[in-house]
Amino acid sequence: MQEFEELKNAILHCTKCELAKTRQHVIFGEGNMKAHVLIIGEAPGRDEDIQGRPFVGLSGQLLDKILAACGFSRNQQLFINNIVKCRPPGNRTPSPAEASVCMPWLLKQIDLIDPKILILLGATALKYMAGSDYKITRDHGKWINVQNRPAIPVYHPAALLRNPSLKRDAWEDCKRIIDKYCEIVDPEHYSPHYKPRRNTQL
Ligand code: URA
Ligand code: SF4
Repeated sequence: MQEFEELKNAILHCTKCELAKTRQHVIFGEGNMKAHVLIIGEAPGRDEDIQGRPFVGLSGQLLDKILAACGFSRNQQLFINNIVKCRPPGNRTPSPAEASVCMPWLLKQIDLIDPKILILLGATALKYMAGSDYKITRDHGKWINVQNRPAIPVYHPAALLRNPSLKRDAWEDCKRIIDKYCEIVDPEHYSPHYKPRRNTQL
């Protein structure tokens, strides 16, 4: 608890990369610090920079809807954050240098929260957490190992807003997340839109 607050304080004062110069807020992340599911996005955008919270713009609204359909909410099963914690000007993709300078913060958060499942939201999170060999179009919905835990790449909600035909695949990937959550965290987990495949052999 105290360690988490100290980390938060250090992150909120970070000036380790150029993004510190143009940001309004550092976005530490949000959710339950004992969450079993950690969601990793790309970077704060304009709305996030203004409000100081992750995923509060259009992408965030869609993300909340998708998560609600899975039976997940911020502050309960989830902690939500990003590859970089400050907004890149004009919402450009974070540079490899910015991502690598910011990465120790995220790794420290993973250490302290100790989630059982990582959700890699979009190509940028996939690239920086798992490496450039992976491709979101090919590898979304597949379980991989990241930081010694199961991780699943899924489409970023911004991609779903640009290309709604991806939503069908995105929901299939969500079902895999729900199944995994039931398997390793809570066999009684309830999703309003999907009946999980429960392991009845226990
Ligand atoms: N997109 C992201 O990747 N992260 C946010 O926090 C908001 C939009
Ligand atoms: Fe620090 Fe990360 Fe913000 Fe750069 S993006 S200033 S490394 S918190």
